[in-house]
Amino acid sequence: MFGKKTNMNNGLVDRFGRVHDYLRLSITNHCNFACTYCKPDDKNCEKSGSLLLAEELIELSKAFVQAGIKKIRLTGGEPLLHKDFERIIEEISRLPVELAVTTNGYFLDKYFNTLKRNGVQKLNISLDSLKRERFKTITQRNAFDRVLANLILAIKLGFEVKLNAVIMKGVNEDEIIDFARITNNYNLTVRFIEFMPFKTNNWNLGKTFSRSNILETLQKTFHLISMDPVAGQTAEYYKIPDAKGKIGLISTLSHPFCDECNRIRVMADGKMKNCLFGNKEYDLITPYRQGKNLFDVIHESLASKNAMHGGNHPMHKNSNAPNQNRDMFSIGG
Ligand code: 5AD
Ligand code: SF4
Repeated sequence: MFGKKTNMNNGLVDRFGRVHDYLRLSITNHCNFACTYCKPDDKNCEKSGSLLLAEELIELSKAFVQAGIKKIRLTGGEPLLHKDFERIIEEISRLPVELAVTTNGYFLDKYFNTLKRNGVQKLNISLDSLKRERFKTITQRNAFDRVLANLILAIKLGFEVKLNAVIMKGVNEDEIIDFARITNNYNLTVRFIEFMPFKTNNWNLGKTFSRSNILETLQKTFHLISMDPVAGQTAEYYKIPDAKGKIGLISTLSHPFCDECNRIRVMADGKMKNCLFGNKEYDLITPYRQGKNLFDVIHESLASKNAMHGGNHPMHKNSNAPNQNRDMFSIGG
């Protein structure tokens, strides 16, 4: 079904020699939260009719694994909202691939067993404030206690947890130290993420709090120990001496890691993106439904991948150039 063997084992290498072995698969664009930096318009969702069926998500995953993918992260929207989440994870976990999940944490307690049973170890959980009221303002939901409880439970159950906090000036940069302190007592990685621009998320440069600002803030309070980078790593990691956990900085805008990029994205409507910031999308689901060769499309998309930021300059977005890239809830984090 997936076509020529010749295309299958050459790996997913682009024209800059980057080997792509990591697929981020958005299984739904629905989300029960509406984080202001991601989905400021609560009703801004595409119709569910256009989304892939569970079966199709599974078959696409198989095709990508055959093509050379070694790690799949299920993302959304909120992936745990998918009505067939259990089946999807069961089927994908049978493939020779490492499986990870990005979630807002709200439904995690329902799925800890499923995740464990299917060998999912790595969980990225979003938490942008440690203050109940502020969390509510950012997510537009009153869910702080439940998310925090699930995050702590995930650590206690032995999952490898990354807490993702998007840092925005005037919103939550005053919590950087409190976030970092969590690593003293808990074995998790707290990652500070630079606020990135998407189609409708009202980004401007003035709202960003850059990697160097974050690092400076941290270094005023802590003597940070820098950790050796691992190949393909998109964050730089630090440790507070004697802390149980780690601190990561994701500086997609100010210090892009495009040279090391090993990612491909497939969205819940069956379109492939070769870069988070690239506007160009390649439809996989129509050829799949027509029984055509998917490898050709996957390779065509990869062949057009740009060296950096999808050929765009996201940092210059405040120069009025409209950002045509979809929103994050629809691309998948
Ligand atoms: N900038 C930076 N990170 C974002 N995320 C979503 N939107 C943005 C944005 N505009 C992150 C969230 C979540 C992951 C899915 O993507 O923090 O952890
Ligand atoms: Fe928030 Fe994630 Fe949902 Fe976006 S997809 S609204 S970041 S919880």
